[in-house]
Amino acid sequence: MSGPGLDSGRPRAVRTAVFPVAGLGTRMLPMTRAVPKEMIPVFDRPLIQYAVEEAIAAGISDLVFVTDRSGPMLESHFGPSPELAGKIETGPGGERLDAARALVPGNVRFQFVPQGRPLGLGHAVWCAREAVGDAPFAVVLPDDLMVPGALGELVDAFHARGAAGVVAVEEVPRRDTARYGVVDSGGDAGRVSRIASIVEKPDPADAPSNLAVVGRYVFDASIMDHLGAVPPGAGGEIQLTDAIAVLARSEPVYASRFDGERHDCGNRAGWLRATVALALAGAAPEDGYAGEIRSLLESWPAAGGSGR
Ligand code: UTP
Repeated sequence: MSGPGLDSGRPRAVRTAVFPVAGLGTRMLPMTRAVPKEMIPVFDRPLIQYAVEEAIAAGISDLVFVTDRSGPMLESHFGPSPELAGKIETGPGGERLDAARALVPGNVRFQFVPQGRPLGLGHAVWCAREAVGDAPFAVVLPDDLMVPGALGELVDAFHARGAAGVVAVEEVPRRDTARYGVVDSGGDAGRVSRIASIVEKPDPADAPSNLAVVGRYVFDASIMDHLGAVPPGAGGEIQLTDAIAVLARSEPVYASRFDGERHDCGNRAGWLRATVALALAGAAPEDGYAGEIRSLLESWPAAGGSGR
C-alpha cells in the first residue's frame, strides 16, 4: 500500500478513537450513582460531547466507547431525536438549530465495547483491540477537558515523526507527580520530544520530571500486544503507562506539550471550575448569568459559602 497517510505498508491514517468510560467515577458520587460520569453536564453539554467534538475535529470518524452501561445514553444523545422534530434550539453562538438533528456528521460511527470489570485504564483500552484492528488509534479520556482540543496536534506529530506513539503532557507542580504518569524526555524542552522512559504515579522525589501525561494519546496498534502482556501495576490495575514504557524501549514514542487550559473533571473541584470557566467563556453580553456569577463570587464567603 502507498499513498497519503500510509507508511511502509501499514495503515497510518488515524480514524479511530477509543474513549475508556467504564470507570466507576467514585470521586464524583453521588452524581455518578445513576448517571455515568461522561454524561454529567459541564456548562451546557455532557462532558463526553467536548471529547467527541475534539476527536471529530482531529479527523476521527470511528468512535469506540469502552463502557458497560452508557451505550444507550450515548446513542440517544448523539443520534437524531425524532421526539424533538419541529423544535428549535439556540446554538452556542445564538444561532437557531433544528433540535432533532444528530450531533455528529453522518460518516461518524459508534461502537460500544464492554469492559466487564474495571481492571484499570490499560485494560479498558485493551478491551477495544478488536474494534481497533491493525490501524493506529487515539485514546481520549473525557475527564480531561482540553481548551483548545489537543488531539489534532498529537495526530500531526504522530504522522510527522513516524511515531509508534505520542502522548500529551503538561507541566505540573512536582508535589503532584504521584497523581500522573510522568515522562523522562532527557531534558529536551522542545514542544515535541522523544520519551526515554515513563513511570506511573512516581513519588515527587523519584519522578524523572514534572511532565505529566494528560488524557490524549495516539498509538500504533502494536500497543495492544503490550497491554495484553503487562502485569498489574500501580494500584493493582493494568496501567496504560506500563505498556507505553515497554513500547518506548523499542519504538519511537513522543511527548507533545499541551499549553492550553486543561480542566480535570474527574473530581468535583475541577468539574465545577470547568463549568464556571466555560459558562463565562461562552457568555454573550446579554447573558445575565455572567454578572450573577461575578456577584456571587464577590459576596463569597459572606453569603454563607463555607467551601464545604
Ligand atoms: P479514573 O482514574 O478517573 O477512574 O479513570 P474512575 O473510575 O473514572 O473515577 P474514580 O477514580 O472512581 O473517581 C480515568 C478514565 O479511565 C476510565 C474512566 O472511565 C475514565 O474515563 N477507566 C478507568 C475505565 O474505562 N476502566 C477502568 O477500569 C478504569
